[in-house]
Amino acid sequence: MAATGTDAITLITRDHREMERLFEEMRTDVERRPELVRTLGAMLIAHSRAEEEHVYPEVAKAAPQEADEVEHSKEEHEEAERILHQLEQTDPASDEFESVLDELVGAVEHHVQEEESEVLPALAEAVGQKRLRELGKIFKERRAQEMTAYEAESTRLTPAPRQSEETARGRRTSAAGSGRKGSTRQKEPAGSAKGAPAQREPSRDELYEKARELGVEGRSKMTKDELAAAVSGGRRRR
Ligand SMILES: [Fe+2]
Ligand SMILES: [Fe+2]
Repeated sequence: MAATGTDAITLITRDHREMERLFEEMRTDVERRPELVRTLGAMLIAHSRAEEEHVYPEVAKAAPQEADEVEHSKEEHEEAERILHQLEQTDPASDEFESVLDELVGAVEHHVQEEESEVLPALAEAVGQKRLRELGKIFKERRAQEMTAYEAESTRLTPAPRQSEETARGRRTSAAGSGRKGSTRQKEPAGSAKGAPAQREPSRDELYEKARELGVEGRSKMTKDELAAAVSGGRRRR
């Protein structure tokens, strides 16, 4: 278990590559666009919130010359989320989807390029490896919390699959306190809703996230059940 695998910069850049891969899939696989948009949306929002709350403030503090760039980065997050929201509302089979997707890809690529060439190098220079690893842990936890909040909201907005009465109640309780942009305001993660059983069925996004952490290959093409099978043994597969 290499320590460098959990530092904030490694985790952030790994997300960037994953988002780029999802963009590519979205361009070519029309049928899977709705699912890919949800996966990308969860990751983009969770990644951005975790950066804004824990990484950008550290950059502004440790490398004050980057304070303006950090502010600019937050504006770019807002812009990307505005376009993402537009993409979510667009018919996946339409020409318009392609043009909104182009716009989103352009905005995210531009932002990622600036982040990787200015913000993250400034952070790396200003703090040591130990702090980068601490930040990585905080980033990862915050990101996972946001992914759960996003999933809770998706559950609220779309018909839920069959599930036990208690689990359903737990999800609804948690979804009620969340919002897309303001999902950070969620009072408690979905799994800890009062009255919910100790174990609830993980969402596809949670399973996908686990599979991503385990390096499961072909995960983006897997169904929820396939993901559950792939992560249950903690094995890597192709
Ligand atoms: Fe980023
Ligand atoms: Fe960012």
